Amino acid sequence: MAVLVTGCAGFIGWKVCETLLREGTRVVGVDDLNDHYDPRLKQWRLDRLKQDGNFTFARADVSRRDELWEVLRTLRPQGEEDLEAIINLAARPGVRQSIVDPFKYFQTNVIGALNLIEWACREGIPRYVLASSSSVYGESCPRPFREDARTDEPVSPYAASKKAAEVLCHAYHYLYGIDVTVLRYFTVYGPAGRPDMAMFRFIRWVAEGETIRIYGDGEQERDFTYVDDIASGTVKALELSGFNVINLGSDRPVTVNEVLRVISAQLGKEPAVSFLPPEKTDVRATWANISRARSLIAWEPETALEDGVRAAIDWYLENRSWLKEINI
Ligand SMILES: NC(=O)c1ccc[n+]([C@@H]2O[C@H](COP(=O)([O-])OP(=O)(O)OC[C@H]3O[C@@H](n4cnc5c(N)ncnc54)[C@H](O)[C@@H]3O)[C@@H](O)[C@H]2O)c1
Repeated sequence: MAVLVTGCAGFIGWKVCETLLREGTRVVGVDDLNDHYDPRLKQWRLDRLKQDGNFTFARADVSRRDELWEVLRTLRPQGEEDLEAIINLAARPGVRQSIVDPFKYFQTNVIGALNLIEWACREGIPRYVLASSSSVYGESCPRPFREDARTDEPVSPYAASKKAAEVLCHAYHYLYGIDVTVLRYFTVYGPAGRPDMAMFRFIRWVAEGETIRIYGDGEQERDFTYVDDIASGTVKALELSGFNVINLGSDRPVTVNEVLRVISAQLGKEPAVSFLPPEKTDVRATWANISRARSLIAWEPETALEDGVRAAIDWYLENRSWLKEINI
């Protein structure tokens, strides 16, 4: 069996590919390696994947349909080992940045998703997994967030783009019978994480003795979820048929201030903190109800925050010489 993973050089994509490869699945990876954040991080992850003989990579932009389809046509494994599924992780991520260039977000997150699911249906690929986000729950959903809650009041172009992709995939499932699983990830963290996210920044700022910058009072809660747990849930989603929407979160929300305390304690440093005005796109709290993930895919988040933070810190310290230079 082979699986196409888009966004394979991304933080979550890298771990999803690793998980599939460990199980002996062949992986066709696609990524455009754009500079939304320092591409050295993407190259670092990709270099590791390329060491596995079952991994094939192609550089392509999912939002450019003709080019993408041409690349997919040439990459597609033939015969018995044909593509079983697409896991679409390629996206412009980040709620705050989505205000700056909302067009890019829709181009990638919606048109990209459309190009891939249309191709899947034309080519008879039976399964499609879409990476969505807890941000679709917005500000007013009761917590913990359940998948059947109303999600029609997003508070950022990013969240709106994820919701748009979700409903688009539903239409394709309805029309063509393709199996679709929408995974709503909650604040993912871990080694080789995204440098625009709090976990990476806090570790670097504390390690390097820089002042910590926090939007708002730091009392906003996030359901921080370890990347290996996210990857295992994503691969398990390949077992499902029909149309499913599933939260993948730790079900243990903590405040941003608490995360900073854990990092500071593990690094043995007391950082200076500067509190910035809150961002309108940042919701007050996220918290996943994960009973659906438990019952449908027997998934359980296994990594405690302290252990996940330790792994992220260790990775930072091992790669410190170049990580302290990258733009954040
Ligand atoms: N990290 C989180 O906390 C989180 C939370 C919720 C949802 N998600 C979603 O999970 C997915 C993966 O997120 P991530 O944190 O790994 O982000 P990431 O930016 O590290 O990974 C995304 C990858 O997609 C690639 N990509 C972007 N635009 C592309 C395009 N047009 N064509 C081809 N490749 C393109 C990027 O180069 C990158 O390598 C995204 O869909 C994101 O929206 C992430």
